[in-house]
Amino acid sequence: MAMPRTGKQGRNGQSMAREGVWEYAPAPESRDVVRIQSRYELFIDGAFTPPRSGRYFPNVNPATEETLSEVAYADAEDIDRAVQAARRAYETVWGNLSGKERAKYLFRIARILQERAREFAVLESLDSGKPIRESRDVDVPLAVAHFFYYAGWADKLGYAFHGRIPRPLGVAGQIIPWNFPLLMAAWKIAPALACGNTVVLKPAETTPLTAMLLGEVFQQAELPPGVVNIVTGDGHTGAMLVQHPNLDKIAFTGSTEVGKQIQKAVAGTRKRLTLELGGKAAHVIFEDAAIDQAIEGIVNGIYFNQGHVCCAGSRLLVQESVADLVVRKLQRRLARLRVGDPLDKNTDIGAINSLPQLRKIERLVAIGVQEGAMLYQPDCALPSRGYWYPPTILTQVSTAHTVAQEEIFGPVLSVLTFRTPDEAVQIANNTRYGLSAGVWTNKGSRSLEFAARVRAGVVWCNTYNKFDPASPFGGYLESGFGREGGWHGLAAYVEL
Ligand code: NAI
Ligand code: MG
Repeated sequence: MAMPRTGKQGRNGQSMAREGVWEYAPAPESRDVVRIQSRYELFIDGAFTPPRSGRYFPNVNPATEETLSEVAYADAEDIDRAVQAARRAYETVWGNLSGKERAKYLFRIARILQERAREFAVLESLDSGKPIRESRDVDVPLAVAHFFYYAGWADKLGYAFHGRIPRPLGVAGQIIPWNFPLLMAAWKIAPALACGNTVVLKPAETTPLTAMLLGEVFQQAELPPGVVNIVTGDGHTGAMLVQHPNLDKIAFTGSTEVGKQIQKAVAGTRKRLTLELGGKAAHVIFEDAAIDQAIEGIVNGIYFNQGHVCCAGSRLLVQESVADLVVRKLQRRLARLRVGDPLDKNTDIGAINSLPQLRKIERLVAIGVQEGAMLYQPDCALPSRGYWYPPTILTQVSTAHTVAQEEIFGPVLSVLTFRTPDEAVQIANNTRYGLSAGVWTNKGSRSLEFAARVRAGVVWCNTYNKFDPASPFGGYLESGFGREGGWHGLAAYVEL
């Protein structure tokens, strides 16, 4: 074990309370549990096939900038092949299969995913930069749980809608982001398949590898060819998928900007649409809260996963009487977070997913400081290669500040204060988003009142970032519409 670190000068010039922090010996997860291919093809009609264009793009490990492999770039013709395969599978097999039979496949997929969990977790961390602790304990188990949960619904759909008969929509185009690559694929694919739809999935350009491994799982589960097709590429590929005339539904998770473009593109067509977009969640701490637990909740809500979470508690609203205490405790806690190798089991904060995302975080924090916020970053050594950003607190922020309004999508917390419960609600609702919120108080009535008045799809009370496949998730306002998860998640994939 290394020697404890002594106090050093922090970035903000303060002396850091690093004394007494004993470094753990490195505990890296083995890379050997997963075989990364030098090249990934498209997954169409049950087989891995080269793109018509012959084009491939590099895939990078954001923690080291090393090239992991190259990935097929799908063009319009490839998308058309994928949509046709999905249509054929819908009309000849999947759309006519009984719920009981569909359930068997979904259970099989869930079990194989579970068996190969370690492989998926390591691949996810290599490709996305997120700590193995998150991919191993959150992303992969939740993805498995979603397949199990929707497998359970497949043969009970007749009971789900009170006497109304649900029918599948047909073929769904699904576009997902890079922050939860496997989990978002599971959120989208599992309910679609349970309801009898077929799918063309477009993973994000920086994180396609676990989706491709999922393709292998579908082969292993002997899912009929064409039921799920996976086309890789960038935003242009996504836009071509959205525009394909032979789709019945588009499901998108990503930026509000692209969500709006998609909404325009499908307007006036028969395509159904669900959008899960950005957020600027308020995490509210009342003076009567259990402060130490709340600190852990705040840290979990924004710093783990590098703040790459649409429901991240990125605005901390703290009651004035305890504001100094909370910020001091948070600073102490931040000095103890470990930033580094995503494959190390001790790592709290991994790499930023891509260089453009890192630049966006840097730009917004600079704007925050320019507009008068106070910057705090603990003294932590960042690796010399790869994309990294230290955990950051911005204090003295008001609602007018850019950092209180714009989604930063990084390990950056903006701290605002309030005096009364009314003011807390007012500040919490002062945003164009409405995805999630958190509240910490010892009074049940206070948290219930807050939950009722805040405009957010999810409100966590005395906890944060808790997910369960049985519980619906989705937003208001510019955070999108439609729900994923739970019974509500079925409604997005059926016609009644
Ligand atoms: P993005 O919205 O551009 O990308 C998400 C997915 O959409 C990717 O698969 C991408 O290839 C695809 N896409 C891009 N343009 C498209 C188009 N015109 N039509 C169809 N599909 C398209 O997000 P990006 O640029 O990676 O991140 C930018 C910001 O968006 C982040 O800084 C963050 O603030 C926010 N974001 C929010 C997410 C969420 O879960 N709500 C997830 C990812 C990003
Ligand atoms: Mg990558």
